[in-house]
Amino acid sequence: MDRKLDELLHSLMQNMMIAVSGEKLARDLGVSHSTLVRWVEKLRAAGIEIRGELFTGYRLVRLPDVLLPQLIRPRLHTNFIGRNLYHFYDVDSTNLFAGRLLSHDRKVPEGTVVLAEAQTAGRGRLGRIWFSQREAGIYLSMILFPKAPPSLSPLFTLATAVALHNAVERYAGLDIDIKWPNDLLIGNKKFAGILSEIQAEVDLVKTMIIGVGINANHEHLPEDIQHRATSLRIASGRIQSRIEILLEFFEEFETIYMDFERKGPAGIIEQWTRFSSFAEGRKIEIHDGIRKISGTTRGLNPLGALRIEQKGGKVEEVYSGDVAAWD
Ligand code: BTN
Repeated sequence: MDRKLDELLHSLMQNMMIAVSGEKLARDLGVSHSTLVRWVEKLRAAGIEIRGELFTGYRLVRLPDVLLPQLIRPRLHTNFIGRNLYHFYDVDSTNLFAGRLLSHDRKVPEGTVVLAEAQTAGRGRLGRIWFSQREAGIYLSMILFPKAPPSLSPLFTLATAVALHNAVERYAGLDIDIKWPNDLLIGNKKFAGILSEIQAEVDLVKTMIIGVGINANHEHLPEDIQHRATSLRIASGRIQSRIEILLEFFEEFETIYMDFERKGPAGIIEQWTRFSSFAEGRKIEIHDGIRKISGTTRGLNPLGALRIEQKGGKVEEVYSGDVAAWD
């Protein structure tokens, strides 16, 4: 059914602003006229403006910036990321839904993506909440089955940060920084974050859910986070197309992910290091949940841990934590 709606929308999109006769549309799709009328109603209910004209047929007038699978699928160039899509107007958390999907359905295809317009319980790292204003942000979770040991799992989060960096720089033309391990910044303010969750055996990751939250079109952010958070709209002064960013991100991520499977993690480490001002020579303090370590950053080790040179020259390798910069 969804695929048929995709086909109908695709035909209308190809003839944007021109009316296509109902008879031709029904014939091309291989359905009766009454079925066509029902499908047009379904698209309208999803916010897509289609005008019906008595003698000429149907005309697509306006596409909403809603992350509908029917709008995304016809424009996807990926092999598996985003090929299977779930879309919600409201969900508790896309990561939680992806987890439920995995526990109920053994045949979830790799690359399945869960999208939401709003989350009622959006989750951030370290038990924080993720502010998920309706239709302003991009809230998504990807389901992956990487053939890798759990020790390599932080690299997938770094890969996601690199893909986001590339997608947003390319689409919005903004200068993006990556704060270790996975905060995306413009200036010193965060506009996107990543929450990766794995289910693993001792030597193999069974499932991985990578959650991404992007502040895209927020005009204002809550007062308590304004000093450290921003959105692409606030930073650029322009409304951004969430669909375009999403499409760029899917392509970037798939390329990096497949490269990782074929050639190993060196490419991720190299790109992350190139794009992050935190990779080398920054004076930071890091809190890893147990202790605080201060020192100067000295790049990543091959597993994605941040190397920190402490006073006296000792180098510590840290795998997770919260970073505060002193410089
Ligand atoms: C962070 O703290 O920086 C990570 C934020 C991750 C937020 C995203 S929004 C989509 C997905 N679903 C969630 O509940 N969280 C992630």
